[in-house]
Amino acid sequence: MKQLPVIAPSILSADFARLGEDVSAALQAGAGMVHVDVMDNHYVPNLTFGPLVCNALRQYGVTAPLDVHLMIEPVDALIPAFAEAGASLISFHPEASKHPDRTLQLIRSLGCEAGLAFNPGMPIEMLDYLIDKVDLILVMSVNPGFSGQSFIPSALQKLSDIRRRIDASGRSIRLEIDGGVTPKNIGSISAAGADTFVVGSAFFNTPNYVETVQNLLRGIGDSASPSC
Ligand code: DX5
Ligand code: ZN
Repeated sequence: MKQLPVIAPSILSADFARLGEDVSAALQAGAGMVHVDVMDNHYVPNLTFGPLVCNALRQYGVTAPLDVHLMIEPVDALIPAFAEAGASLISFHPEASKHPDRTLQLIRSLGCEAGLAFNPGMPIEMLDYLIDKVDLILVMSVNPGFSGQSFIPSALQKLSDIRRRIDASGRSIRLEIDGGVTPKNIGSISAAGADTFVVGSAFFNTPNYVETVQNLLRGIGDSASPSC
């Protein structure tokens, strides 16, 4: 069963000089969680932020879930610091961990929800063995590293395949899409099975966040109503 739709703006596209203010405005406009893209210039060719930024958002007064997307390798050593800094959900790419099962257990043992992230070229068969330990599955619809890239259409098939597996598991697992999401394509993404939508450039590069959330939710709603 799909969870209620959530828009998760990626702060990779936010105004870093006034991050607290920008994130608060996004949440006030109706965003449901804050997506934090952590990059290490090793797993991906870009460098962003660490646990200090999560902590700073918490200190600023942000109480919404912090959805931390680790694009780092290795992953285990930094997970406790993100949990300590206020992360709610921590996702990682399984190929960046020598022991993905152990990493999922580590995240949960620290009181956070655990997510697995799949790049466009990655198969999803390992879910056969790991689905009972995940709270979120993140489908990358761009190659990780940068905001502002175009949506890769094969992600739609991957979403439907994972949606079937989630429904068969009977567990309440969020299915998140990340990369190139816009009000134009969010309808087909939702129809393919996603319920959690990371939006970076198509969120923070718009002038009116309230309108942006409305446009995104309208796109999701249109996909849910029967076409005639
Ligand atoms: C890419 C990141 C995404 C990115 C999304 O590596 O994981 O979260 O910021 O940005 P847009 O929505 O602009 O593709
Ligand atoms: Zn991300």
